Amino acid sequence: MGKPAIIVHGGAGDWSDDEDAPKSESLKEAALTGWRILQAGGSALDAVEKATNILEDFPLFDAGIGSFLNEVGEIEMDALIVDGSKPDFGAVAGVKHVQYPISLARKVMTETPHCFFVGSGADSLAQQFGFPFQPNMFFVTPAEWARFQQKQTASPTGTVGAVALDMHGNLASATSTGGTHDKKPGRVGDSPIFGAGGYALNGFGAASATGVGENIMRVLLSKYAVDSLTHGKTAPESVQHAIAHINQFFDDSQAGIILVDAQGNIGAAHSTSKIALGWVDEHGQAHAKMTV
Ligand code: GLY
Repeated sequence: MGKPAIIVHGGAGDWSDDEDAPKSESLKEAALTGWRILQAGGSALDAVEKATNILEDFPLFDAGIGSFLNEVGEIEMDALIVDGSKPDFGAVAGVKHVQYPISLARKVMTETPHCFFVGSGADSLAQQFGFPFQPNMFFVTPAEWARFQQKQTASPTGTVGAVALDMHGNLASATSTGGTHDKKPGRVGDSPIFGAGGYALNGFGAASATGVGENIMRVLLSKYAVDSLTHGKTAPESVQHAIAHINQFFDDSQAGIILVDAQGNIGAAHSTSKIALGWVDEHGQAHAKMTV
């Protein structure tokens, strides 16, 4: 039996310092929820899914409730879950009615022979699995509606994610997002792309990315970070290496990443001014911070 570990994120970017305290509380709650599952002998997959569900419900993050509106005033959400023990993954993109896109991604992985569903097909699959069908406006917070009406821009931040190692040595990654604000309908970022928004492989590590998806998917940032572990780097060195890699190609890469390795060491790095992080230490104490 190994030592379990979990770290979660609520996006990389820039936001008002006023949001730091409420975001910290949500990140700690999410990390603790996952931690309790791991401490009870539960799976890394359960831990990252349930932790992400909490962040999907929290209105200050760009995932589930609180997602950014696209340019025609609709919410389109993407999610990816990765099981490092197989490896296997499930992903959804452009869903408009599923309260917990990460849970639908898990159903895609475990209950279908496929890996990735998009749009109305993904929403109707959710109904077949018994997910409640929410109106699209269910996900729109008053603050996001006001931002959209006033045509204000926002930092491309608030994607959520979690990575965990369980007592049995299994690694998992979960990532969920509403994408970038005012995106064109149909635009999909890195978050549901295996190897870009998330990646996990037992014996190595699990990663979840956040930031401007076009940059992240062009370098498969999460896979790059986990692969860096195989070159003798520690968890903190691997995420720094991944951010240095993306920075080589983009002047302002606007990316962040979290990682846990197969020994339970965690790391996080970002090229933005902030990254919202939550984790639990070996004494069961939850922590949150907004930079590394
Ligand atoms: N990283 C989230 C997105 O670009 O959609």
